[in-house]
Amino acid sequence: MKVAVLGATGMVGRTFVRLLEGHPWFRLEVLVASERSAGKPYGELVGDSPEEFKDIEVTALGDFLENPAVDLVFNALPASLSREVEEKLAEEVPVFTNARSHRYDEDVPILVPEVNGQHLKLVEVQRENRGWDGFIVTNPNCSTAILTVSLAPLREFGIRRINVATMQAISGAGFSGLSALAIQDNVIPLISGEEWKIENESRKILGEFKGNSIEPAAFEVSAIATRVPVLHGHTEAIFVELEGGSIEELREAFESFDPLRDLKLPSYEKPVIYTEVPQPRLHRDRGKGLTVTVGRLEGKEGSFKYVVTGHNLVRGAAGGSLLNAELAKKLGYLK
Ligand SMILES: NC(=O)c1ccc[n+]([C@@H]2O[C@H](COP(=O)([O-])OP(=O)(O)OC[C@H]3O[C@@H](n4cnc5c(N)ncnc54)[C@H](OP(=O)(O)O)[C@@H]3O)[C@@H](O)[C@H]2O)c1
Repeated sequence: MKVAVLGATGMVGRTFVRLLEGHPWFRLEVLVASERSAGKPYGELVGDSPEEFKDIEVTALGDFLENPAVDLVFNALPASLSREVEEKLAEEVPVFTNARSHRYDEDVPILVPEVNGQHLKLVEVQRENRGWDGFIVTNPNCSTAILTVSLAPLREFGIRRINVATMQAISGAGFSGLSALAIQDNVIPLISGEEWKIENESRKILGEFKGNSIEPAAFEVSAIATRVPVLHGHTEAIFVELEGGSIEELREAFESFDPLRDLKLPSYEKPVIYTEVPQPRLHRDRGKGLTVTVGRLEGKEGSFKYVVTGHNLVRGAAGGSLLNAELAKKLGYLK
């Protein structure tokens, strides 16, 4: 299938390009960015571009929209542009997006294959509602992706409440990001809109697909988000109230969690690994960045705490989106 990446020169876009190198199902042929980058070879703009894509000339977004001519689009544009762009493209082609623009639409799934693959069925409702040949599938914001993958093995114990404090890497803020002076030697306990996203996206993801819509999970989620001077990899301290389960059972649930192994998706990796002391520098690249590392598990009588760390640009963005597209292909949603 012929594929385009929108926002290919940004933090998430570069990660898409790297992950699509040599992909067995998706052939990356079109790299889209702003007028500032248009017309230049990708390798000139992105120093560490994979050899395969170095000579591709970057296409301006406006030109691409006039004649998309691809079978599938991955979107890593800023949210401010994405709503309109995605809706135009989805009239014709499937769009897998990192932007938040459509995450809260009733007929658009926030997909994490290992957690709520069955929400992909919402695509049929969406196509009927909107009369599109294509569709839009979103993935969650980066910290929610890491959080929900770590919570999925605990669902069998009955989740009652979740409190989470995040320690998020600088690359989560994109290229324009934060000034070095602001983040050096510092922790910033404010990431605009992030706490609302974590609280609401995780309830939608962990909710149930019923009839033709998703009923969000009933439990409460409360979050505090902080930015810390780490380059890549978000770490989260999670306090979870469960109806049952012992430490041994929870640990076994983390260790055995491997729900999509049999589907043989090209990018699939075991989603959760247990390690006593998870740390971004040591563990963010596990499973090519798709595996989250859980540890520091403690607690009793339904009240537990643990730490998770995962790669924000891979598990939390481009890798998650790629896995979404692979699942959609495997289940017959892509022509
Ligand atoms: N960073 C993360 O960890 C993360 C995680 C999850 C989701 N996201 C979401 O993913 C999206 C991309 O984030 P990012 O961090 O990769 O951002 P970024 O580093 O700022 O990159 C933005 C990309 O969009 C392009 N762009 C900007 N303005 C444009 C315009 N007017 N027309 C066409 N292209 C334009 C840029 O092209 P030029 O280089 O030509 O300017 C660049 O390729 C956002 O919606 C973000 O919220 C990010």
